[in-house]
Amino acid sequence: MLLEIVQYGHPVLRQKCRSIEHVDDGIRDLAKNMLETMYAADGVGLAAPQVNIPIQLICIDIPEDEDSVSLLKVDGEDRKLSDIMPLIFINPSLEPYGEMESCQEGCLSVRKIRASVARPKKVRATVTLLDGKTVTIDCDGLLARCFQHECDHLNGVLFVERVSSAQRLTLKSKLKRLFG
Ligand code: NI
Repeated sequence: MLLEIVQYGHPVLRQKCRSIEHVDDGIRDLAKNMLETMYAADGVGLAAPQVNIPIQLICIDIPEDEDSVSLLKVDGEDRKLSDIMPLIFINPSLEPYGEMESCQEGCLSVRKIRASVARPKKVRATVTLLDGKTVTIDCDGLLARCFQHECDHLNGVLFVERVSSAQRLTLKSKLKRLFG
């Protein structure tokens, strides 16, 4: 089932999301619908607050031919993207590390806007999968960026707040024009 993706200005996008204690059928159904919604919108990541549910649930699917990802380890073992995608998880904790890198980002909740955002190149993400298993993922490239972008959503932060001060003014007027 396709869900409605809320847009910039909606208060749920500003909320701090609560962690999930039990994965039940409701959570599994929601995750399935979020994935379907993300694919239909041509996205690579979607966080639950973007479908108006402020809980710590995220889905990510990075295509296996994404060549920006050169580091990918799960619990210390080398893995390929196709081994772990689509990746659906709850209650993430992130440790970004490495040098900063600027890259264009977009967001399904901030349609028609792209902007360059500087973030650390790598992350160590500890996440719980829907089967209850907790894994540690070390990665770089688009996957590291996606982890950081999606986890920001769980803290009520959007990528447009992470742009450089030089871009901020132009972006502000664009956001006003598009979202009122
Ligand atoms: Ni987003």
